[in-house]
This record gives sequence, structure tokens and C-alpha cells, in this order.
Amino acid sequence: MARTPAQWTSQPPVPSTHYVDPSVYTDPQIFAEEREKIFAKTWFLACHESEIPEKYDYRTFRHPAGRNLMIVRGDDMQVRAFYNVCPHRGNTILYNPSGNAKHLICIFHAFAFDSRGSCVDIPREKAGYQERLSKDDFGLRTVRCETGFGGFVYVALDESVESLSDFIGHALDGMLESLNMEPLEVFSFHRAQVDTNFKLWHDTNSEFYHDYMHYHNRQTSMLQPGYFERRYTPFKNGHAEVGDQIVNYEAYEGYKGRDLSFPGMKMNQWKMVDLFPGMTYNLRGSSLRIDTVMPVSATSTFVEYRGLGLKRDTPDERAKRVHDYNSIWGPFGRNLHEDLLGVHGQGKALGRGQTYIVQAREEDRTIHDEIGMRHFYAEWSARMGRPSSGNGNGSHGG
Ligand code: FES
Ligand SMILES: [Fe+2]
Repeated sequence: MARTPAQWTSQPPVPSTHYVDPSVYTDPQIFAEEREKIFAKTWFLACHESEIPEKYDYRTFRHPAGRNLMIVRGDDMQVRAFYNVCPHRGNTILYNPSGNAKHLICIFHAFAFDSRGSCVDIPREKAGYQERLSKDDFGLRTVRCETGFGGFVYVALDESVESLSDFIGHALDGMLESLNMEPLEVFSFHRAQVDTNFKLWHDTNSEFYHDYMHYHNRQTSMLQPGYFERRYTPFKNGHAEVGDQIVNYEAYEGYKGRDLSFPGMKMNQWKMVDLFPGMTYNLRGSSLRIDTVMPVSATSTFVEYRGLGLKRDTPDERAKRVHDYNSIWGPFGRNLHEDLLGVHGQGKALGRGQTYIVQAREEDRTIHDEIGMRHFYAEWSARMGRPSSGNGNGSHGG
């Protein structure tokens, strides 16, 4: 029976852990709080070490908490992170997404910095500042930076955040061997801009009930033995592992068998881990896909996708990995664009009359259980100091 307006806006008859107030996806005040209480207080994946392989290589990064950063490989090969902000009068120092610069020189008044963040030249320094200020007073602002879990460069804006390994805990243990046995290399990078909330992207990576949308996934996974036994494992800090599976790619008509895997992986094995608050390791047979959400507002999000193989790949092996990656996740692939369509459709409806978002499926933590999302929103609620279900007094966006 269709519901009346009053029924439509009333809370679902399930525990409040099993639904989310739609304002959580649209309210600018909630998004401002998320930047400070979540993104500024967790580790976030900025790039991969293979994107800055040589000394003086850099990568700029717009941190989801709203800070512009630069990741720089120093003359000593150490990777460091700094604010991409000149300490003189606040100009942006690096404009390009990536490059190589022995000296980082601000174009405004030509203050120069070395690859370790020290200010090494100020034009007419003594004439202007005499003994009052010197280069030492103008170093770049450092940001905590650690490389690990497959050679990824993580940053933390808040000095008091636990170490990266404590933050991730045991969430990636199931694929650590594959990530760390050999150096990895990024072979694909693209960025999607979607008018939707960042959490909705992470939700698609946290639940598999939507496999009805993916014809390829239905044929190669859902209809195959073992799919419905895949189990979720929640970890501290809001991370979750999705149970692994052997994928039968031949079940998709026209597909040939694959003959490459990853170190420590069985042929055609699939492993997936979602890291709070918006990163996913998706290791599908021969290639690794990494997603990172980059929200710019409550209702606009960039999602960055990186494809990785092994650094030592021969040209033939690399071509196979790229082909396998693209056949699932490329622009003409059989998976990624469907997920984007889903969150695009949610975005079109945001603030335009949704009811509560229901995450109430319970199937003993197996693949169509919505525990992955509930685990995420429990962490979200704890960090935000407010329940994601709303306060029950009609606060939701209607
Ligand atoms: S703002 Fe950078 S040198 Fe003046
Ligand atoms: Fe999907």
C-alpha cells in the first residue's frame, strides 16, 4: 500500500542503527562537522609512492578536510607532506597536479623552499627584514605523513591521531601479503565528479546487495558457488573486510580466461576492504583498484580511482593487467559505471523528498547483509557525537 505523507516521514519500524536520516547526506553544517571531526582526525590516502618515484617529484592533493597539500619526495628520497601554502602571504605554491621541482618557488614574491620544506631564499631578505625575521621563520608547514600498506602515502592533519598502523589495525591483514610482497605501481588514474554525498559512494563499496545491478557480477559471482557464504568482518575504527571469493570470469559470455594473479592470491580470487571514512582496497585477481572519496560539499564529490600492478611487470604482463582492470572498471567496463549511475541517481534525489535511508538487511553477516554500512555509520555517529539516524524530532530533510 502506498504511504501517506506522515508515514513517509516517520521512522522505519527497525532499530535506529538500521536507518539513516537523509539530512546526513545534504546538510552543509553536518558536512562542515565531518571535515573537522572525521577527515581532519583520521589518516587519509593521498597518493601512491610510484606516482613520485624520483627525488624532487611532487603531487598536489586537496585533502577532504579542506586543506591544500603537497606530497614531495626529498633529495634524501624521503616522502614528506606540507601545506601547499606560502608562509609569506598565503599564495598557492604548486599549481600542477604533479611534477618535479628541485626548488619550490612561490610565483608571487619568489620565496624559495627546498624539498625538505626549508625556506632557502628570500629576495632582498636583509634589506627588508634586517635582523627581525629570517628564512628560518618561513619554513613550510609539515603534515604527518606515512607510507605503507602497499606503498600508499597516507597523511593525517591532526598531530594527535594514532599511528597509521594503529588506525588501520588488522583490517588489511587478509591482503597484506599481496600488498607488500613486491613494490606496486599505478598504471591507471581517473577521477569522477558526482553530484552526490561522499558516503553514498562508500556505501556502494560496503554492500553487495546491489549486485542485481551488475549483470557481469551476477553471472561471474552471484550465480557461482560460495557467493552467499561470503562474510563481512568488521574492524575497529569503522573498517570492514568483505569475504573473498573465486570469480568465474568464463561465465560471462565472450570472456577469455585470465592467466595473471597477484602475489599471495589464488587465480581469479577477489578480496575487498573498506577503510573509514572513504577508501577501498579492491583486489580483483590481477589488478588492485583503490578508491578515495574527495568530497567538496555535502552534495558534490570527486572519487579518485587508481589501478595498480607490480612494478616489475613485463610489458606483456602489464598489458594483461590493464586489460583485466579495464574490462571491469574501465569506461567500457562491466562494473564501475553502474555503481556511478547508482550514486548519481541517489544524488539527483538528495534533498528532494527522500524518506529515511534503510540499511536493515540481516543475513548472518553474509554478503547481502547490510552490516558493512551499519558498521560505518556506528563509527560515524561516535565520531560526530550525533546519531546518523537523526534525533527523532523530524530533523530529516523530508
Ligand atoms: S606569497 Fe609567496 S612569496 Fe609572497
Ligand atoms: Fe557495485
